[in-house]
Amino acid sequence: MLHKTNPTKTKSWQKLLDHFKDMNSVHMRDFFADEQRFKKYSIRFEDILLDYSKNIITDKTKQLLIELANECNLKDSIDKMFSGEKINETENRAVLHTALRNFKHDSIIEDGNNIMPKIKDIRKKMRMFSDAVRSGEWRGYTGKKIKNIVNIGIGGSHLGPAMVTEALKFYGSNDIRVFFISNVDGTEITEILKDLDHEETLFLIASKTFTTQETMTNAYSVREWFLRQTRDEETVKKHFVAMSTNKEKVDEFGIDTENMFEFWDFVGGRYSLFSAIGLSVALYIGYDRFEEMMLGASSIDEHFKNTNFENNIPVLLALISIWYINFFGAESEVILPYDQYLHRFPAYLQQANMESNGKSVDRDGKLVDYSTAPIIWGEPGTNGQHSFYQLIHQGTKIIPADFIVGKEPLNKINEHHDILLSNFLGQTEALMKGRTIEEVKDSYPYKVFKGNQPTNSIIYDKLTPNVLGKLIALYEHKIFVQGIIWNIYSFDQWGVEYGKQLAIKIQSDIKEGKVSQDHDCSTKGLLKYLID
Ligand code: F6P
Repeated sequence: MLHKTNPTKTKSWQKLLDHFKDMNSVHMRDFFADEQRFKKYSIRFEDILLDYSKNIITDKTKQLLIELANECNLKDSIDKMFSGEKINETENRAVLHTALRNFKHDSIIEDGNNIMPKIKDIRKKMRMFSDAVRSGEWRGYTGKKIKNIVNIGIGGSHLGPAMVTEALKFYGSNDIRVFFISNVDGTEITEILKDLDHEETLFLIASKTFTTQETMTNAYSVREWFLRQTRDEETVKKHFVAMSTNKEKVDEFGIDTENMFEFWDFVGGRYSLFSAIGLSVALYIGYDRFEEMMLGASSIDEHFKNTNFENNIPVLLALISIWYINFFGAESEVILPYDQYLHRFPAYLQQANMESNGKSVDRDGKLVDYSTAPIIWGEPGTNGQHSFYQLIHQGTKIIPADFIVGKEPLNKINEHHDILLSNFLGQTEALMKGRTIEEVKDSYPYKVFKGNQPTNSIIYDKLTPNVLGKLIALYEHKIFVQGIIWNIYSFDQWGVEYGKQLAIKIQSDIKEGKVSQDHDCSTKGLLKYLID
């Protein structure tokens, strides 16, 4: 069981409150009188550099935050997660997405069994299948090569693969195109299917539960579209595969269970990218590169598990973020990849973070009286500069920002990358320093920038599958650390279940064209408007 420490009742929290009184009035630019600050507050791990010097922190802040992590039994909780304890207590499950990318340890035990053999089996199956499709050995029912992959899934069964296939487009196959259908709105499915030759298309039905309404509705409609053309149930075998934990439902759908890529309850939906859910990625970039991504994530897992908190990147990212959320009152965090390939990374982190830590009941079952997950948002940095950065620079809110960029570009054109890097650095410097009325010179108050806006700079050498795996794992562990300190359960998502139940009930009203009386007057009014 995880400890149930209310963070606000710890000694370090009280000390942090006192410390905040001093820090609330300092300006970060004064810290930079110390020329050693960058050296002191940056960490290099393999091909990744984290600079966290542009934060409103001192040695004392860092020390108190680490004390907080210790008082909240963080180390013990990390060990419990990696060793397969059922730390997802509200669902009575272990949390072992880290085992999916483990190549170091022969045995990882869940419920008394070593799970590595079955993980290795699925890896092998994914490798064989993706090799067969990519080489043309696996063909459609008319003998044509597969040229289109369509992933049908939502949430964790969509955002990870969608983000990664965009992020690693540089390494993607020229012969295979990847599409994603997630929205149950008929538009996505219509627009995607209209250009596809069904004989050259492979559909991946990605659903942990295989009961998610949107995914199953889309999957059945696609199957219908496919069968309208082939008029033969047997052809489904060559064009539909499933990634799921639910064999029975996969079978019921008519997918040969031989073509089912299994995963397990110890892998949460939003943490399932490295499970069979990553099949679209393996098909697109090749299994070897998919494994390189796993190795990147795995090296961060080892770093997270084995590095003292002073130099532990996910731990520091989490603690600094807690400092702003719980003491400065920050309500959102912005993710600013300057690499266009990472344009879906903020959306991916939105689910990872907000579905994990958007909780208000603690591990004792009591309502918390402190903030938990921030609102996560973001866009590629240069585009954001011409849109919402104004508010970060001169608005009234504190918005901690993560700036992310590659040292080397994947696509080198003229001076593009130098311009990109200059903007990256220029913005973080401006956010830190600000500009005083004296510096503005003409006493024009509208040109004053308050500065003191916190940023982390994350720079990787070059965007490779391995680097992407590292970035993903860094944020996953940051989220884990925060959940532990906030004393909440990060691996369930009860909040999304209620809306789903109501939707099913309303669906039958719509079908029958009636307005049942057990709704509120707004819902009844809207329903009446929609069905009349
Ligand atoms: O929205 C809730 C949720 O359960 C997510 O956590 C999950 O990633 C998504 O739905 C999809 O679930 P499934 O993979 O079971 O279709």
